[in-house]
Parts: sequence; structure tokens; C-alpha cells
Amino acid sequence: MSHDFNHLYIKGLGILSDKLTHKNILTKFAVQIKCMEPDLLIDKTQDEARQGEAYASQANSAVFEKHFYVESYGCAMNFADSEVVAAILEKNGFGGTKNIEIADLILINTCSIREKAELTIRKRLTEFRRLKQANPGVLVGVLGCMAERLKAQLLEEEKLVDLVVGPDAYRTLPDLIANAGTGHKAVNVLLSRDETYGDIAPVRLDNNGISAFVSIMRGCNNMCSFCVVPFTRGRERSRDAFSILAECKDLFEKGYKEVVLLGQNVDSYYWNNPENNATTTFAMLLEEVAQIDPSLRVRFSTSHPKDITDEVLHTIVKYDNICKHIHLPVQSGSTRMLQLMNRTYTREWYMAKIDRIRALLPNCSITSDIIAGFCTETEEDHRDTLSLLEYAKYDLSYMYFYSERPGTLAARRYEDDVDLVTKKRRLQEIVDAQWTLSNESNKRDVGSVFEVLIEGNSKRNEAEWMGRTSQNKVVVFPKGNFNYKKGDYAQVKIQDFTKGTLLGRIV
Ligand code: SAH
Ligand code: SF4
Ligand code: F3S
Repeated sequence: MSHDFNHLYIKGLGILSDKLTHKNILTKFAVQIKCMEPDLLIDKTQDEARQGEAYASQANSAVFEKHFYVESYGCAMNFADSEVVAAILEKNGFGGTKNIEIADLILINTCSIREKAELTIRKRLTEFRRLKQANPGVLVGVLGCMAERLKAQLLEEEKLVDLVVGPDAYRTLPDLIANAGTGHKAVNVLLSRDETYGDIAPVRLDNNGISAFVSIMRGCNNMCSFCVVPFTRGRERSRDAFSILAECKDLFEKGYKEVVLLGQNVDSYYWNNPENNATTTFAMLLEEVAQIDPSLRVRFSTSHPKDITDEVLHTIVKYDNICKHIHLPVQSGSTRMLQLMNRTYTREWYMAKIDRIRALLPNCSITSDIIAGFCTETEEDHRDTLSLLEYAKYDLSYMYFYSERPGTLAARRYEDDVDLVTKKRRLQEIVDAQWTLSNESNKRDVGSVFEVLIEGNSKRNEAEWMGRTSQNKVVVFPKGNFNYKKGDYAQVKIQDFTKGTLLGRIV
């Protein structure tokens, strides 16, 4: 995956507008983008700045007769899927390009998580119309969660779309493309109980060569009442542990220094070896990946609070190269809301989990996702969320107001009865509280020395490096007279911070 945010093209920034974008917080989602502040602690798996990122592999695209262009939206799973799609297409004669004008096939890998996400994609599709008019031979395909949610309806509504392909049907892309090429609209949105694309080596697209996403599972069985993911991604399934390890080893051999293990709920990873029936849990997988090499950093996301075990926490303690950062979305601080959300934990249970993490991993950063204004939320429920934030002292949170998604449990059972003005006001209060916490978190780092994995030049100044701490905070520091290069670890003493970045010097 690309952490080379210096070269990001942000076409989908509109997606930000479904959050209250406190100026300071806006910058949190805008890592390393020209004219914007870099981020302090960005969860690489939910990087809003990457929305609409156009992809192209580093392979020499001149060797291919035909070209595809892909834009990705949504979570890291989608970005990782685009790399699987690229591998499938390259095998079938399509090379990736970043230049949409020369593409024979334009793909958009979509997200349905909130209404605004879908609107952004609809808008982008209308922009493709001009290209299609200029070159009627070009095929336009919708991939991902919106394809799965809307199915053939998309073909009727978006007249220019030729292909609609759900997240479990990418292997059929070559056939679908051939079909669409003969003028037949092609749809495959079948969900699978076992597809993990485990045998496909993703083509790393637009990559900094330091950090890569590795999908370890697909789907989700949790049925949080607000969430569309179980409907768009299907049943949870874990990928063969051997193929995960092989992919991570291969990345390390190619010079990567960080792997990010991905799943909607990584702690419920569970794989049975069909040959000897031995099981691999997430803690075991984490340990095996960590053992590949002490200089390979391991990150993971997302952890559902109900599933993260002591075994996982002890494994994080045991290995220096397992990053000390847990993304532990709480969603709400009110037990009543959590019950309606079907999160299966209470406020107190979640607080105890935070206590446990702090006790075992005092240096671990904790980040969260929060939804404001879920169905029937009162001021008291909202205050519970604010006080939970204070308790958890998150280093960073992703904050949203509730957006009803058709077909979800909440849409069927509960009334979306908090008015938009109230939702936005509550969201703003949460954003402000988080801003104070993030600032305090930065302040605590001043004076300390962190091991920083260098990801590349700072976007503003070639004489400075940009890298991350184990806690996932971005650090910028002068190169000085040291001989470091991209992919090296440097010991950096933090001296100051700006809105979104720690500033330090090599010690
Ligand atoms: N699997 C992850 C979350 C995936 S979706 C987990 O369980 O933590 C990312 C985030 O989007 C969620 O954590 C939630 O905060 C937010 N989200 C999901 N559905 C939403 C909705 N209908 N409205 C607003 N925010 C939503
Ligand atoms: Fe959605 Fe809940 Fe699954 Fe996360 S755990 S993807 S919020 S259903
Ligand atoms: Fe969006 Fe699908 Fe991910 S709905 S958040 S792209 S799983």
C-alpha cells in the first residue's frame, strides 16, 4: 500500500463533508497532502486522505496493450482489494495507469458506509461520463461495497456503467470484461463463504516500498445495527495462515519494513489447518508474523473490543516489533446506545478493557471510532460519550454522525430521530474534546525518544525525513549529517509538535 502520501491525488475529499470538519481535525485526515497539514496519528487503515486515490503499479505499463485505471474509496480493505484486482487484471493483459485519459477500463472501488460516501462516488461517476462520451469504447466498472449493495440497480441508475462487481467476485473480472466488451452489461455480486483471494499475490500499487496492507480475513459476522458491512462484505472468513506468512515474508524480502494485518475484526481471526486440524488464532498469527524478522514492524486493524484477548495483549508486549497501537472503536459511551448498536459490551466493560491495555502496555496508543446522534440518543447518552473519551484518553478518533443505511438492523428497527442540527452539534463537541486529548497526547511525547521508521522525505522539505513511531504518530525531523535512508529506523527525540506532526531531531 502507499504511504507515500506526498503524491496523493485526492479526488474524493468530498467524503470529508459528512464529518464536522473542525479545521484542526480536518487536517487529521489529510496526511501529507499538498497545502494541508500532515497528520499526527493517522490510522493507516481508515485514511480519509486516500479517498479516491488513483492507483498504478510500478510495473512498466508500456508492456501492456490495454490499460486500467482504478480509484479507491472506503476502508483499507478496499485499497487492499484494488491490489488484488490489479493482480488479476495484469495477468489478463491490462496494465495499471494513473492517466485516466488513456485507460480502456475505468474502475471505481466503492464504499457504502455512510450516505455521503455513496454520494461522492455518484458524483465521480458523472464525471466519467465525459470520458465515455469522448471514447465510447472505454468500459466503466463499479467494484466494491456499493456494487454489492445496489447490484444491477446501479446499471439502471448509472447508464454509463458497464460492469458491476461485488467484493467476492473479482476473479470473474476477466470474463465480465470480455462480456461487457461485446456490449452486454455484466454483473456479478455473488458473495462467497470461502473466498479470501489468499493465493493471489497483490500487485503493490503506487507504493512507498516500506509498508504494505495484508488482508487476513474478509467479511464480518457482527451485525452492529448501524453497519452495512456485513451486507456488502458477507460472512466472516479467515485466510489460510500459511499464505499470510508467505506474503509477509515475501514483502520483507522485497525490502518492506512494515505489514498492516487487515480485517474488520482481526481478533476473531481463526484458521483451521485442514491437514492436521491445528488452529491458528489471531495471537498466534501475530506472533508468527512478528517472528519473520525483528526489523519488520507489524500493525493490525481493526480490533473489536469484545474480541481482543489478553493473549493478544501479551503477544504485543512480547515483541518489540509489534506496534504499540490499538484501534479499539467504542462507537458510543452510553451503555443504552451500545445495546441498541448491538456492540455486545457495556460502557464499564469497555473501560475495563482500556484499563487492561494501559496496565499491560503503558506505552500503547489507543484510537477509536465514534458515532454521534445514533437513534434515540439523548443529551445524557451524548455526555456519556464525552466522559468516556476523557476516560480513554484516545490519541486520535475518527468521528462521524449517524447516517442511516438501508437494510441495516437500525434502519429496520429504529427511527433515525436525532435531527441533523443536533447530530452535528454533538459531533462538534466530540471533535473538540478529542482535539484537546490529541494535543495533550502530543505534549506528553515532548522530551521522549522514539524509534521512527523512515517512510520518505517530508513533503515540505527534502532536507527532512518523515516517519512514524510504533504508536503510529507521524514525526518529521532534519536529516542532518546522518546517513539514513528510507526504510531505516532512527532514534528521534521529540522537541515540539505542530497541529498534526511531532517534530524532533535524531539522537
Ligand atoms: N469493523 C470496524 C469498523 C468498520 S466501519 C469496527 O467494528 O470497528 C468504520 C467506522 O465507520 C465504524 O467504526 C463506525 O464508527 C463508522 N460507521 C459505520 N456505519 C456507520 C453509519 N451508518 N453512520 C455513521 N458512521 C458509521
Ligand atoms: Fe460493521 Fe460492526 Fe462489523 Fe465493524 S464489527 S464492520 S462496525 S458490523
Ligand atoms: Fe466502506 Fe465497504 Fe470498507 S462499506 S468502509 S469499503 S468494507
